[in-house]
Amino acid sequence: MFTFDGRPIPSDGQRSIAAALLAAGVLAWRRSRIDGRPRGVFCGIGVCFDCLVRVNGVPAQRACLTVARPGDVVETDEGEPT
Ligand code: FES
Repeated sequence: MFTFDGRPIPSDGQRSIAAALLAAGVLAWRRSRIDGRPRGVFCGIGVCFDCLVRVNGVPAQRACLTVARPGDVVETDEGEPT
């Protein structure tokens, strides 16, 4: 279990944050800079940076590449990609 913006999300400690969020019915977790459109997983392989989240206070982490560990605190990240 980890939290996303305070919401508990089940995780077995083996799947990515993106996979866990999708399995929990969370399809988008940030907004595009230009027009505020919802963003979540696009490429799923670490290339597009559409899936950025803040993990345990560290911004701009790719949810598709980051394993969701029990106890992680995952938050919406509205910052610029780095
Ligand atoms: S979905 Fe493209 S980098 Fe994560």
